[in-house]
Amino acid sequence: MLNERIELQECLELDARDPLQDFRSKFALAETGAIHFDANSMGAMPKEVPQRVAWMLNEGWRNLGRQGWAKLDWLDKPKMLGAGIAHLVGSEPEDLIVCDNTSINLYKLLSYAWGIRQSGHVLLTESKHFPTDIYIAEGWIKTLKEYGVDAEIKFADSHQQLLDSLNKDVAVVNVSYVDYRTSLRWDMANLMNKAKEVGALVVWDISHAAGAVKVDLMGNEADFAVGCGYKYLCGGPGAPAYLFIHPKHQNKKWPSIAGWMGHFDVFAFADRYQPNPRIISQTTGSPVIISNEIFAAAVDVWKKVSVEEMDSKHESLTSLFHHLILQECGSLGADMTSPATHTNAGGHVSIRHQGAGPVSEALLEHGVVSSFRKPDSIRFGISPLYHSHQDILNGVQRLRKVLSDEIWKEERFQKVSV
Ligand SMILES: Cc1ncc(COP(=O)(O)O)c(C=O)c1O
Repeated sequence: MLNERIELQECLELDARDPLQDFRSKFALAETGAIHFDANSMGAMPKEVPQRVAWMLNEGWRNLGRQGWAKLDWLDKPKMLGAGIAHLVGSEPEDLIVCDNTSINLYKLLSYAWGIRQSGHVLLTESKHFPTDIYIAEGWIKTLKEYGVDAEIKFADSHQQLLDSLNKDVAVVNVSYVDYRTSLRWDMANLMNKAKEVGALVVWDISHAAGAVKVDLMGNEADFAVGCGYKYLCGGPGAPAYLFIHPKHQNKKWPSIAGWMGHFDVFAFADRYQPNPRIISQTTGSPVIISNEIFAAAVDVWKKVSVEEMDSKHESLTSLFHHLILQECGSLGADMTSPATHTNAGGHVSIRHQGAGPVSEALLEHGVVSSFRKPDSIRFGISPLYHSHQDILNGVQRLRKVLSDEIWKEERFQKVSV
């Protein structure tokens, strides 16, 4: 494919053969007609959302009020939502729940993993990990030290350096399956095997993969995973996050936050805590009813999506993007920085350009939403559900115009939003 020129006709043919083409109609895309290559930040809104939220507010809140707890499925939603997206990440339905946010879930799982580890005093993580992952890990180690526990955090600058740092001192490893800047994807099987050899447990942040590319948590015997609901999964602004615990690690100790929703018998209002024996013990307080209803609209879509088709559509869209950047923008100072091989990359593609910030601003005015990351990177989050091959062509051609006509150099694009 790299040797030949790709035109609109070929993109239309690819779209006509796309087994997921009907899913685009399940989403309310931006009224401006802009192409939102922003799925790595906030996925699109499922069409059913306004109607479902209106129903929840009127029937659930206004009419049923407190009875909603008993008459509607509010309490079961964390389990139901988890079960509905489990196939996307290679989990059994009962081993994944939707609750809280990714930062809180990270805290819960890092501390839980620490409690059930076999040995070691080091928390090994990546120096370029997403900030909240680093902060939560730092905070956990600081707390342990303040309590007099021998604990240390260590950072690796690359996948290889992290693998080389694995030894018996390592208790817990915390990594992003896909890097939020470069889109570089870990070889999950390799890291899991190496971690097992030294008895370390791994907590994966799969935010930039779930709902875009195939993740196989059980197939790779992953220990723990967390991720955001609002990105590729389209759970809505501020959507709750998800967490996965391999069944062999469940019910090994109390959750770090022993909230009432994780109690064995929530409405017994028992005087003492008794954890639910399953992953539901990791829920904390009241579920976010309205947000869960929004997420449920997306989950109803995801339930009908084959993970294999999702993965191969994503591969097709992103390899087209790579090809077109070379074809349309190769001589204009834009280079691909995300990995070209599908199995090495996650949900977004990224390019490098010296004027990345102003280019991203100018793209907005040309109907393309992307995200700028300092110093010189632009990310395009690609959704296999609502993006088409034609979108990719249109997006890259608009980028070419912004670059070739030097539109990005205009004064009004120099003030850059992040
Ligand atoms: C990899 C990754 N982890 C965690 C987060 C933040 O998650 P939350 O705001 O749900 O705590 C983000 C946000 O973009 C992210 O990209």
